[in-house]
Amino acid sequence: MALLKMRIGKRVIEKISYALSVAATLAVAWLAAGFAGDVYAADNLRGRQLYAANCSICHGEGGRSVIPGAPNFGRGEAVLKPDMTLLAAIRSGKNAMPAFQGILSDRDIMDVIAYVRTLH
Ligand code: HEC
Repeated sequence: MALLKMRIGKRVIEKISYALSVAATLAVAWLAAGFAGDVYAADNLRGRQLYAANCSICHGEGGRSVIPGAPNFGRGEAVLKPDMTLLAAIRSGKNAMPAFQGILSDRDIMDVIAYVRTLH
């Protein structure tokens, strides 16, 4: 009898641990899918750091431009243009604005654009 109880107990434990391992596998898969998604989405936080290092000297912290002629992103200037237009402008530069091709990757620039869009 005691042996039978032990066997049933063992089976229950096996079932529970199997259920837990399935749950853990699903949780890992779910997390992995979440992180994989991030790889393709623009990263605002990275964009913010890149903006602080490369753009804020002219376009200002929080998008309040500090040099004449630089669009004020805080007031939504220039950001109505599509991503690809802004990407091209930032890559190639314009008048007093330096070109960032070779300094920032397209991915970096897309992250900066995503951040700039949050400023107004
Ligand atoms: C040395 C100063 C300076 C720096 C650094 C700078 N910009 Fe500019 N930026 C300007 C000026 C000036 C203009 C306006 C150019 C013009 O229209 O004559 C401009 C224009 C722009 C525009 C509008 C382009 C368009 O076609 O309307 C965007 C977007 C922009 N900058 C983004 C950035 C980003 C992002 C960075 C950092 C990666 C950056 N800028 C760094 C000075 C700067």
